[in-house]
Amino acid sequence: MMVWHMVECVQKCSELLDHLQFSVLYYTHVIKEDTLLFTVLIYVCELFIEPKFLCLLQVDREYRVQKALFSAGFPVPEPLLYCSDVSIIGTEFYVMQHVQGRIFRDLSLPEVGPAERSALYIAMIETLALLHSFDLQSLGLQGYGRGPGYCRRQVSTWKRQYDAAAHTDIPAMNKLAEWLANNLPLDDNEESLIHGDFRIDNIIFHPTEARVLAVLDWELSTAGHPLADLAYATLFYFWPTSVKDLSQGTVLGFKDTVESPSFEELVSIYCRCRGISTTLANFNFFLALSYFKMAAISQGIYARYLLGNAAAENSHEFAKIVKPLAEKGLELSERSSFSSTHRSVSGELFHQSRKGQETLLKVKQFMQQHIYPAEKEIIAYYAGHGNTEEKWKKPPVLERLKEMAKAEGLWNLFLPDVSGLSQLDYALIAEETGKCFFAPEVFNCHAPDTGNMEVLHMYGTEEQKKEWLEPLLEGKISSCFCMTEPDVASSDATNMQCSIERDGNSYVINGKKWWSSGAGNPNCKVAIVMGKTRNSSASRYKQHSMIIVPMDTPGLKLIRPLLVFGYLDEIHGGHFEIHFNDVRVPVSNIILGEGRGFEIAQGRLGPGRIHHCMRSLGAAETALQLMCQRAAQRETFGKKLYHHEVVAHWIAECRLGIEQARLLTLRTASKIDVLGNRKARKEVAMTKVVVPRAVLKVIDCAIQVCGGAGVSQDFPLAFMFAYIRTLRLADGPDEVHLSTIARWELLEQSKKLTAKI
Ligand SMILES: Cc1cc2nc3c(=O)[nH]c(=O)nc-3n(C[C@H](O)[C@H](O)[C@H](O)COP(=O)(O)OP(=O)(O)OC[C@H]3O[C@@H](n4cnc5c(N)ncnc54)[C@H](O)[C@@H]3O)c2cc1C
Ligand SMILES: *[C@@H]1O[C@H](CO)[C@@H](O)[C@H](O)[C@H]1NC(C)=O
Repeated sequence: MMVWHMVECVQKCSELLDHLQFSVLYYTHVIKEDTLLFTVLIYVCELFIEPKFLCLLQVDREYRVQKALFSAGFPVPEPLLYCSDVSIIGTEFYVMQHVQGRIFRDLSLPEVGPAERSALYIAMIETLALLHSFDLQSLGLQGYGRGPGYCRRQVSTWKRQYDAAAHTDIPAMNKLAEWLANNLPLDDNEESLIHGDFRIDNIIFHPTEARVLAVLDWELSTAGHPLADLAYATLFYFWPTSVKDLSQGTVLGFKDTVESPSFEELVSIYCRCRGISTTLANFNFFLALSYFKMAAISQGIYARYLLGNAAAENSHEFAKIVKPLAEKGLELSERSSFSSTHRSVSGELFHQSRKGQETLLKVKQFMQQHIYPAEKEIIAYYAGHGNTEEKWKKPPVLERLKEMAKAEGLWNLFLPDVSGLSQLDYALIAEETGKCFFAPEVFNCHAPDTGNMEVLHMYGTEEQKKEWLEPLLEGKISSCFCMTEPDVASSDATNMQCSIERDGNSYVINGKKWWSSGAGNPNCKVAIVMGKTRNSSASRYKQHSMIIVPMDTPGLKLIRPLLVFGYLDEIHGGHFEIHFNDVRVPVSNIILGEGRGFEIAQGRLGPGRIHHCMRSLGAAETALQLMCQRAAQRETFGKKLYHHEVVAHWIAECRLGIEQARLLTLRTASKIDVLGNRKARKEVAMTKVVVPRAVLKVIDCAIQVCGGAGVSQDFPLAFMFAYIRTLRLADGPDEVHLSTIARWELLEQSKKLTAKI
């Protein structure tokens, strides 16, 4: 019976062989996915193609290792039988149970969503950690490898193979070989059972869950250094963009797609599962070794092509990837030593990139060294210039701080395309800058310029970018945003009346705006104005447009600064009423086109909408700090304030509020990173409601604990309260966001209902 099955399998394999173009990896997949009851060892097929490869294969070893792992509960297909009798099918073989599930050929897993991809990668790395946790002795595999010195052997084996196949001198390859030989890890006697070819396409996942059902292809398994497997499984994170993964015929696009999970995250999960330190001193060696090995293999394939016995059609292409692979190996060898320990508290749930961590650290240092010490001088500037026009100018120390921050690269951190930071990275940084009222501007990360830069970056023409975005990014000019109007309820933006009418080669703008923040800054050179470009044949949401208006255009007039609870808010350039009387700008100043204002507003209000929230969490931290200090300093009725339980509870409640609000903010930021602005709309709305509420509560408690001082100019709390209170109105009042949240909730619930039916 068994033999009959096997014969059938072999026949099937041969049939497949006949009508398929093979590359080694390709046909193993065909067989893995075949619906045969049994999967026959692929080497039967290799007989036809890669005679040289065959001698590497030791069927009995492969059977033995799988048998041991299966008994130990590790996910491998159940090995059923090993036959050393070559008379049956012409060679020794073994048979294993077929496992039904999913195999992903493209390492970037384009067929699944980001969340699932992340889960699949994590499942893969947990499985690898499990493999490395076994003890060779207890698996009954003593003597499986060749003893200590695995790394040394790897370097010399691949060097030998490379030298034998080399067709031209590639200095990077020689240099890499030399570096590897001179930088062997000190713990080269560490031995675990390793897989030798551990990558996601050697794994069968559960058909619907992110669960590993079986790890395949054990022919390269041995006893060796476990980090070799880990490096090999994660090397695609560094894959040179110029190199296609030729064995798959696909571009390894992982780097270009969302980096979730990140390299650091995967490695730290691995370390956690194995219970080892996340400081992997020699990890660069293993990454470099992996690239060396890939380069040597590629050279080998090309050599076989030259000899006329290579399997794959594209074998000749392997020649040109040897060099970039070797260069990447060299580059990784020079990388600063790897550690994934350096993580923030939030890093447990939400992953900051390495760059994000470094930038946050630098921002914190910059705040300590330069910003807090300048606070007094800045406050004194405004106190001294209270009644003169000088108050609208920026204090010289602010300009100096900006130059310093720029020189340190702490600049434009809010814009992912420029900073290379994710929204999540930026959320933690923005919170830090939010602790001090003038800090965001020092890093060129202040509203409304951030939103305006986003608009120009996303929707501006090349000329518009050159003229306005560049100087904004450089911090040479600032800007304002004119949407809200005094005469209509602007939370429904379709009410907006300000007209933008075409007249020849110009647009003519007429109307009144107010709450244009930042317009009082003498450096404010440009406004983005939203107005009505009437179009009777278009919908309500296509009647408005955005247009660029230089502030010095005739007819544009600053009427008055509005007070916020009595504050002028000079440091942020005030909030102005602005009138437009026949303000004429060239047609080319329109952004994106007539009728596209709402489209732009949607885009602007994704990340931009929660930047305030991120910053205001920092303000809450400052308020809570002041509250605790004051509660510890002063006494009433014979005890410190914080010994009054009600005060202690306020402190605790404030901490709860901040933590809850931050979790939501980070979740939203990470959702924007992973799914984009549109899919995170509900989360953005929730954050926009939750955070100002929570922060206001903290400030209110802090004011109460500080007593009269709390509302005075001696403490920042009153200004903070005024400022944060406006966030419940600005960028849309709470009620509008609540309606949005409810709409999404109802929609999602109705989908769940139909799904059940
Ligand atoms: C400090 C500050 C800075 C600002 N900066 C800018 C800026 O730079 N540029 C700019 O264009 N604007 C700016 N604004 C304006 C801000 O965006 C608007 O005030 C806001 O959009 C609300 O519009 P409105 O004032 O016309 O209120 P209205 O539209 O008149 O709404 C008043 C109230 O009606 C209620 N309401 C509205 N809709 C609903 C609903 N669907 N359900 C239930 N109740 C509802 C809400 O309680 C709302 O607060 C700023 C405002 C402040 C206070
Ligand atoms: C007016 O709207 C219609 C329908 O959306 C569109 O086809 C047309 O181009 C618009 N006109 C202008 C001048 O934008």
